[in-house]
Order: sequence, then C-alpha cells, then structure tokens
Amino acid sequence: MLSEKMEKAFNEQLKWEFYSAYLYLSMAAYFDSVNLPGFSKWMKAQAIEESMHAMKFYNFINERGGRVILQEIDQPPTDWESPLAVMEFALAHEQEVTKKINNLMELAQQEKDHASQIFLQWFVTEQVEEEDSFGSIVAQMRLVKDSPEALFMIDRELSSRNIDFTALSGEVQ
Ligand code: FEO
Repeated sequence: MLSEKMEKAFNEQLKWEFYSAYLYLSMAAYFDSVNLPGFSKWMKAQAIEESMHAMKFYNFINERGGRVILQEIDQPPTDWESPLAVMEFALAHEQEVTKKINNLMELAQQEKDHASQIFLQWFVTEQVEEEDSFGSIVAQMRLVKDSPEALFMIDRELSSRNIDFTALSGEVQ
C-alpha cells in the first residue's frame, strides 16, 4: 500500500510526465513551423515516450492500492529564438525531471517503501539516457553554430528516430 505522501508525490510526477509530453509536442510544432521535419519527428517520438512514462506512474499507483488523481497541465512555451534554444530548454527540463525523480527516490527511502524504490530505479536509469541524448544534440548544435548545412544534416539524422515502446510493455491494461 502506498503511503499518502508517496501517492501524492507519484500523482504529481504523473502530471510532470504528461507536461513533458506536452512540452515536447509544442517543440515539435515549433520545428514544423520552421521546416525542420527531422527535429519535429524526434520530438514527437519523445512526446509519446513521455506519455508512456506517465502511464508507468498511473499503473504503479493503482497496483499499490493508490488513487490516480489527474491534475491540471500548464500550457507549455510555444516559441523559441532558435532550434538550439529549443534543445537547450529541453535539456534543462530533463535536468529538472532528474531532480524530481531523485527527490521521489529520497522520499521512498524515508518512507521505507522498497517497492517504490525498485520502481523508481527504472526512471533513474532512464534519466541518465534522457540527459545524454538531449546533451549530445545540444553539443553537436553548439559545435556547428549557425551553419544551415549542418542543421540540415542533424535534421536528417534525427529523422531516423523510432519510438521505443519497451517502456510500455505491460503498462496498458
Ligand atoms: Fe520522463 Fe524525459 O523524463
């Protein structure tokens, strides 16, 4: 059984994961508006993966006898001054998500909730990957600065991203 504190914190994180999906879809819309279809596809895939993260929290709350309470999701930003500014914003967002996951882990430790700690371990590992993938794109973009040719090449490379549905296995019941 989830403690009241854990239930509240997991519901809050569920909201943040959906906010992340919303934010990345807003970024996809921005990239569509500046004719960068590869960046847009990458962000759409990211948005879908964030929804899968949210569903992991949804199902875990239920499995542990908690109650899912959906909260209001804020409107995400819609405009950025450049493609690089978008990716920097996204990286900073992921760093914030990592902090939230770490705080959840600390709470689970305080509550002596071992099942939640095991559940959260998946997210700890996932955040390392998330920061790494956003971080490498930002690094590449900083390296090439404002070169349109290089941006076009990165766009082509990003268009090869496929959605990783493994996070969802067993999550939609
Ligand atoms: Fe679900 Fe990108 O953190």
